[in-house]
Amino acid sequence: MEKFYTTTAIDYVNGAPHIGHAYEKILTDVIYRHFSQRCDNAYFLTGTDEHGIKIQKTSAQNGISPQEFCDMNAQKFKDAWRALDINYSQFIRTTDEQHERIVQKIFKKLVDKGDIYKHSYTGLYCSGCEAFLSEKDLTEDGLCPDHLKKPEVVKEENYFFKLTKYKDAIIKHIKTHPDFIVPSFRVNEVLNQLENIEDISVSRVKSNVSWGVPVENDPEQVIYVWIDALSNYITAIGYDPENPNDGSEKFRTLWPADVQVIGKDILKFHSIYWPAILMALDLPLPKHILAHGWITIDEAKMSKSLGNVISPTGVLEAFELSIPDPFRYYMASAAPCGKDGNYSDEDFKEKVNAHLANSMGNLLNRTLSMLVKYFDGDIKPEFLGKNELTAQALETVKAVKHHFDYFEVQEASQKIIELVDITNKYVTDNAPWTLAKEGNTEKCGIVLTNVLQVMTVIASLIYPYCPNIAGEMAKQLSYDITTKLDDITCDTLRAGHLINKEDIKPVFLRVDSELAEKKK
Ligand code: MSP
Repeated sequence: MEKFYTTTAIDYVNGAPHIGHAYEKILTDVIYRHFSQRCDNAYFLTGTDEHGIKIQKTSAQNGISPQEFCDMNAQKFKDAWRALDINYSQFIRTTDEQHERIVQKIFKKLVDKGDIYKHSYTGLYCSGCEAFLSEKDLTEDGLCPDHLKKPEVVKEENYFFKLTKYKDAIIKHIKTHPDFIVPSFRVNEVLNQLENIEDISVSRVKSNVSWGVPVENDPEQVIYVWIDALSNYITAIGYDPENPNDGSEKFRTLWPADVQVIGKDILKFHSIYWPAILMALDLPLPKHILAHGWITIDEAKMSKSLGNVISPTGVLEAFELSIPDPFRYYMASAAPCGKDGNYSDEDFKEKVNAHLANSMGNLLNRTLSMLVKYFDGDIKPEFLGKNELTAQALETVKAVKHHFDYFEVQEASQKIIELVDITNKYVTDNAPWTLAKEGNTEKCGIVLTNVLQVMTVIASLIYPYCPNIAGEMAKQLSYDITTKLDDITCDTLRAGHLINKEDIKPVFLRVDSELAEKKK
């Protein structure tokens, strides 16, 4: 694999980040970190979507300019992602000057090509979706099904994009690339939506929506948010429609994206509008669009009116977590690929205590402690090369890679925990403490060394989910955590001194639910 380019949806900045935004960024970060272990040029783009009527209205309500409002809130997203160790390569804001300039050129190219045309239009606009809805989309009471609000009747002369021109090509692409939309159970839904598509409005009159990128040579029109927003995936990495080679070297290396991660609610925009725009620009389509499910809180939909909106940094604070790893692990394994997941304090505490503290952390701690107790922390040459767990560990590496090839992040984490459980059982079955007592020292040393070799593999595999814990495990094992997955052998530990008693530390301390209750 020469490169791996992944992106997330860019978040609206009309509020602070919540756990749903965090879910997507964590999922993508775990995917990105996994593929960084498989290639040298992995790239991860995220950012914020800052134009449109909602920002215009909310900033006015707050008595500040839209730009000030965006600056303030975009910073909240950046701060949250830093707290969660989201290791993005680039953070794009749609108010970045370079993005705005290229969006104008993209628009112009499509006008010149005849794919964008001017047309007088009456439509139903939902500002929640930042989209025109058709009568068919509405509930029986005429409301937007997602925002339960009556859309506004808007009569304007707008620019339209010839989406219908690309309908057949998109259907063909989806049918000939069955893994374009992940998970595949969403393919039919998209094909059904494609049956009824019409050309789409891609601009708004400035007097109605002023906060946006003006159309070049027609400044009374403002480019409608979705063309602006979707283009971020290519403007960020240096696409330039006026350049005969399509833009920068970076763009040519990274595009097409390997996986674009988004929520199921915006799949239509990414599997219909976005491919059509790319086709119109003569650019290749992303390899995969991964539509993840939604996160509920205590099985209820998260909403301001229910007062159950959870901030991701709030969880870290409530449980007094000094590292985000447990929260990352919990969120990344919250749902099977593409399905909805749930967050609850109780489940969070139980799962991370069971998997990360009791099973994984304790296993390392106990084994290293025994190595110190029985062998002064030394691995003797005769302990090496007799590992019954190697085949199982390497099989797990293969299985984890296979799951990631299908973006099955939860499923991969289950394989890792299975390996932890198998290794724990190996310790129980072989009872090294009994072997030591009985004077069967060599066998005791072999068992402990075998376990520690597997722990290096576990450290590598858990790294994308828990980079800090994995780093601490690797430190205590004198293992290079930057080892590529293809180079894993399960026999990296060498004969010699491994660790002193005072350097053995729990890699993860149990989280306490009472603390969270009190804080609430
Ligand atoms: N700005 C658009 C996306 C443009 S992409 C070119 C947008 N923004 S959003 O802030 O509303 O949502 C950002 C992402 O967060 C979307 O992928 C959305 O699905 C996801 N989520 C928002 N709430 C969510 C949950 N409760 N659970 C999981 N993800 C959810 O849409």
